[in-house]
Amino acid sequence: MHSAPTWDPQQYLHHSSHRTRPFLDLLAQIPELPTAAPGVGPRIADLGCGPGNVTALLADRWPTAHITGYDSSPEMLARAAEYAGPTPGGGQLDFQPADAAHWDPDDTYDLIVSNAALQWVPNHPESFPRWIDALRPGGTLAIQVPGNFTSPSHALLGELCDTPQWRDRLGDHGRRFVHILDASEYLTRLTDLGCEVDAWETTYSQLLAGEDPVLDWVKGTALRPVLTELADDPDAAAEFLAEYRDLLRKAYPPGPHGTVFPFRRIFALAHKKG
Ligand SMILES: C[S@@+](CC[C@H](N)C(=O)[O-])C[C@H]1O[C@@H](n2cnc3c(N)ncnc32)[C@H](O)[C@@H]1O
Repeated sequence: MHSAPTWDPQQYLHHSSHRTRPFLDLLAQIPELPTAAPGVGPRIADLGCGPGNVTALLADRWPTAHITGYDSSPEMLARAAEYAGPTPGGGQLDFQPADAAHWDPDDTYDLIVSNAALQWVPNHPESFPRWIDALRPGGTLAIQVPGNFTSPSHALLGELCDTPQWRDRLGDHGRRFVHILDASEYLTRLTDLGCEVDAWETTYSQLLAGEDPVLDWVKGTALRPVLTELADDPDAAAEFLAEYRDLLRKAYPPGPHGTVFPFRRIFALAHKKG
């Protein structure tokens, strides 16, 4: 086991419009939330909230809600703090440190959401029973995880980390263990818990601009463990990045309109029966 990667909110937000799109698609499928009592807004948790920009979108949809974003990265939480406070609709937005693997719901929730975070949480489906228990009848668990671990961007990263040159230096840091399930497996696991489930996948054909945009993308996410491990050795980091960049240039050559970076994502919505 090794320590968690250091996140860089600014780097992560470079591609915020592409990264936000799946969240909006997830949000669009979430039904109306139950109400605890007249005049009481919904209670919402966002697990792995990151820099808080998508958490804030929840407040746009449910202006009276009390929303708490949880994340294990101090860097991400510091960035999210800019959204904290009362919301214009009379709700409240706050952020707390938590490891989603051990998050024990401390309240009754109307919505538990997690966008692009559970791929970092091994065995997260084992937490589903606790999370569904914490939902009010009629409440929803809504998750989205990337499903691109066999795509060239990730396969090449794994292969480079496994070369003799880097294997000893990086150990497991560069290797991504796949913690996600397929849409059909999420469907089964959550239906087993008595929920009505909607699970699906979408591959977004993303058009990225600029030089080496796929490298820039993964610097915000999949490369975090490698960049964290090499943080004290800038020469090695530069060398690794140059080798990986060359592989990505071949796998994702720029086209006439930019670089096409297909990205598969998996969605699951579990509705607790009322
Ligand atoms: C790719 S970002 C997604 C951020 C945000 N949900 C969004 O959609 O933009 C992944 C986030 O998961 C967080 N994360 C990773 N492992 C975690 C864990 N075990 N518990 C809580 N947060 C975690 C990271 O710190 C990071 O902020």
